[in-house]
Amino acid sequence: MRTPYLVNLGKVGDIPLGQGICYIVKGTEIAVFRSREKKLFAVENKCPHRQGPLSEGVIGSGKVICPLHGHKFDLTTGQGTEKGECVRTFEIWEERGEIVLNIPGDLLNIKEE
Ligand code: FES
Repeated sequence: MRTPYLVNLGKVGDIPLGQGICYIVKGTEIAVFRSREKKLFAVENKCPHRQGPLSEGVIGSGKVICPLHGHKFDLTTGQGTEKGECVRTFEIWEERGEIVLNIPGDLLNIKEE
């Protein structure tokens, strides 16, 4: 069974509705978005095309548009609209007004037994 590693990223209100912020967690850049419907999403910040900062992209219809060349990625699955492109996604939720991120052990260099 996988052990959850939970990180508190601070107040959910720190992220304006419809926008994203880049958090650095254990050296990994993670883009966290808060949709206009107040849903949270977390994906790796670096676009697989040419490393564009996805946290600065526009979101809508469950997707983020990379600010550099416009490739789109599904915020839930990470699947890109361009062939072979995908970003890693992370489990994230709100708890008592705070953002909680569940990060996989490999980001922490912890080996699962
Ligand atoms: S760097 Fe993201 S689309 Fe090119």
